[in-house]
Amino acid sequence: MIGVYDSGVGGLSVWRELYKLMPEEGYIYVSDSAYCPYGTKPVEDIIARADAITRFFLSKKVDVIVVACNTATAASIRYLRETFSIPFIGMEPAIKPAALTSESGVVGVLATANTFKGSLYNNTLEKFAAHVKVIERVGEGLVELVEAGKSEGEDVERLLHLYIDPMVEAGADAIVLGCTHYPFLTSAIAKIVGPSVKIINPAPAVALQTKRIIDAMPSHNSNRILEFYSSGDTSTLWKIASFIEPDLSYSCIKKLCV
Ligand code: DGL
Repeated sequence: MIGVYDSGVGGLSVWRELYKLMPEEGYIYVSDSAYCPYGTKPVEDIIARADAITRFFLSKKVDVIVVACNTATAASIRYLRETFSIPFIGMEPAIKPAALTSESGVVGVLATANTFKGSLYNNTLEKFAAHVKVIERVGEGLVELVEAGKSEGEDVERLLHLYIDPMVEAGADAIVLGCTHYPFLTSAIAKIVGPSVKIINPAPAVALQTKRIIDAMPSHNSNRILEFYSSGDTSTLWKIASFIEPDLSYSCIKKLCV
């Protein structure tokens, strides 16, 4: 069984890839909506939530935990790996594939303020993107729109233009989605940047890495349940999860009390 969590519904963009790759596994998804967004919260608060959610997953007997949130990964993956013995898979900022394949030598990155501040992002940048120009923008307000169930329309387009136009104007030929909420805005982003700019979503690579870890396990809990917990509002969680898997029954949506 795989535990997957995010500050909200963004991690469903990762669950979608996991579920596509490993439909036979059980999943427990946690949307920490009552504490969303994480992007501007103090790091200690994000670690406290990571700790509480991990203990909840352990009580459910999951085998691995996917931290399907770039911000939570940046703030807490080290603490989690040092504190618990279960394997954790975090989000890697996809700077490497973007920088290695860029022909224009300009790459745009859209992420939260906390992700940009984290050492994970900055080390990756130093290691793989020293030879390209990286244009960073904090996607302020985008997480809230996705949480409200919006993936297109005037509000979405206005904010995306604000953050992405400077990247395109500077010649970026790749845009890295550095927050798991943003893949739900891919069509709106593609409309702005056109077909010549690559939009890079790290979720498929994270799903593959999770599969590698599971395949290497001698045995694991093969309980094929699908449960979706939220510490706050559940309407967008249900809307997106049931869009991804139309056979879901509403009884799989539950209240998280940690
Ligand atoms: N999905 C989270 C991420 O990947 C959203 C951050 C937030 O809650 O601000 O960073």
